[in-house]
Amino acid sequence: MLPVVTALTCFLCGKTYDHSLVQGLCECGRPLRVDHDIHPGTMSLAEVALRPPDMWRYREVMPDCEPITLGEGMTPLHEASVLGADWWIKDEGVNPTASFKARGMSAAVSMARKFGSRKVAVPSAGNAGGALAAYAAKAGIEAHVFMPRDTPRACIVECECHGAFVNLVDGLITDCANEIARRKDQEGWFDVSTLKEPYRIEGKKTMGYELFEQLGGLPDALVYPTGGGTGLIGMWKAFDEMERLGWIGRERPQMVSVQAEGCCPIPTAYTNGERFARMHENAQTVASGLRVPKAVGDFIMLDLIRVSGGTALTVSDNEMVACAREMAAQTGVFACPEGGATLAAAKTLLASHYFRETDKVVLFNTGSGVKYLEALSL
Ligand SMILES: Cc1ncc(COP(=O)(O)O)c(C=O)c1O
Ligand SMILES: [Zn+2]
Repeated sequence: MLPVVTALTCFLCGKTYDHSLVQGLCECGRPLRVDHDIHPGTMSLAEVALRPPDMWRYREVMPDCEPITLGEGMTPLHEASVLGADWWIKDEGVNPTASFKARGMSAAVSMARKFGSRKVAVPSAGNAGGALAAYAAKAGIEAHVFMPRDTPRACIVECECHGAFVNLVDGLITDCANEIARRKDQEGWFDVSTLKEPYRIEGKKTMGYELFEQLGGLPDALVYPTGGGTGLIGMWKAFDEMERLGWIGRERPQMVSVQAEGCCPIPTAYTNGERFARMHENAQTVASGLRVPKAVGDFIMLDLIRVSGGTALTVSDNEMVACAREMAAQTGVFACPEGGATLAAAKTLLASHYFRETDKVVLFNTGSGVKYLEALSL
C-alpha cells in the first residue's frame, strides 16, 4: 500500500497546511506534524517482517516519495547487563554516517528532491551536517552546512569529503541557524534545520517502530540524549501511529530525556513545571549533539515526557565520557558522549529507585565514538 499523507498540522496551534507544497514552520513559529491516514490494517507486522532491513520497510507510514537511501535503520538492539539490571542499547552508531541523523536526513533529502530543491542548508552540531552532506551527495543536491567552529573534526572532514559547502561559525548551533535564516531566501537554500521542515521526524520515528519489532513489544522506559528533540518526538509519534494501526493500546514507555549539566533547557523547564523552555545561556558540553540551548519543539518534548510519566535529568561531562568508555569496554558498543549520557542517567535513576532492576529500559547510543576522538581520549 502507498502512504497516504492527509495534511501537515501545527503541533501547537493545530493549523493545517497543504502537504503537496513545500512548508516550513507554522505561522505561529512552531513545527508541523505529518499526518497520515492510518487505521488497523494499513500496515501489518507480518508484511513488514519480510521487507529489507532498513527504515523504509515501514513504507505505508513514511513520506510519499522515492527514497534516497544509504541503508539507514534496523540498527542492532543489544542486551546489556549493567549493575544487575538487564537493559538494552539501541546502537545508532552503525547507521550510514555513523549516527541516527542518517534517518532524518534520508527522509528530508528524499522530500527535498521530490519538491525539486537544488540546494539545502542545515545548522549542525556535527552529525546532522555529515548526514545531510552524504544524502545530498547521493541525491545530487548542493549541501550547505553551518557548524560551530569547535565541532568534532571528524564531522567537518566528513562534510568536506561529501562535497558540502562547510561554514564554521564562531558561536553555537543557534547562531548557525540565524545565519541560515538571514541568507536562505537570497541563496535559494531549503532549510532542513531540526523541526523546521516536517520530514526529519518521519525518519527518526522509525526508531520507535524498530524497538517494537525487535522487542516484540514496548519497553518500560527509554533514555534518550536530547538536543533539538527529533528522536523523542519522532518515537512518540510512532507510538501514536502504532496505536492507530492496532498494534498497541494506550500504554507508552516512560520517556526519559537526558541533557548535559552545561546545557539543560529541558530538565530545567521540566523541574520548574514549565511548558516552554528558556534559552540556556553560555551553553557548554563535550557532547556537541546536546549543545542546543533553545529548541523550537521544547513544548512537544515537555508534554510527552510528562504524559508518559517520564522524567528529564542532567549528567556532567565527566560522567558521560566515563560512561561512554564504560559502555565501549563492557558491551562492545563504541559509544559517543551522548550515548554515554544515557548510561550515566540510567545509573542515577536506578540508584534513586526510579527504575527497578526488572524494568525493560532501552538506552540510545545515538552515534559512534569514532566521531568524538578528542572528547573520548584520556
Ligand atoms: C550523537 C547525537 N546524539 C543526540 C543528538 C540530539 O538529537 P535530537 O535532535 O534528536 O534531540 C544529536 C544531535 O546533534 C547527536 O548528534
Ligand atoms: Zn501553529
